[in-house]
Amino acid sequence: MSQTLLVELEDAESLAEGEMRTYKAGPFEVLVCRVGGEFHAVENKCSHQARPLHQGRLRGHLIVCPVHGAAFDVRDGAHKSPPAMCGIERFTVVRSSEGWCVEVPEEAKKAPVDPFGRPPMMQVR
Ligand code: FES
Repeated sequence: MSQTLLVELEDAESLAEGEMRTYKAGPFEVLVCRVGGEFHAVENKCSHQARPLHQGRLRGHLIVCPVHGAAFDVRDGAHKSPPAMCGIERFTVVRSSEGWCVEVPEEAKKAPVDPFGRPPMMQVR
């Protein structure tokens, strides 16, 4: 069974409804979105050409890539429209005694660093 690390999402409470913010969590850049009063976290990397999603539009539970318009559901990372052909990584957000945190795979601590700064593709669960 895979172990996870909790990484604090500093000041997440200040995110307003419909806003999003990026956080560094191990080798991942995590995009945290607040929709319907809940926090959702996905990898800030489009599965089409690995471009960041944080400058895209958040429409309800869909994040739309600013480059070519692929859309993903922030609740589960599912791919919802082309040109992307698959989903993106999704992370669990939990409330701990430290505040809001995101769970990332413990193996991420040992993951090799990509020379271009791209995090490795890993399954959270
Ligand atoms: S890089 Fe996101 S749709 Fe092409």
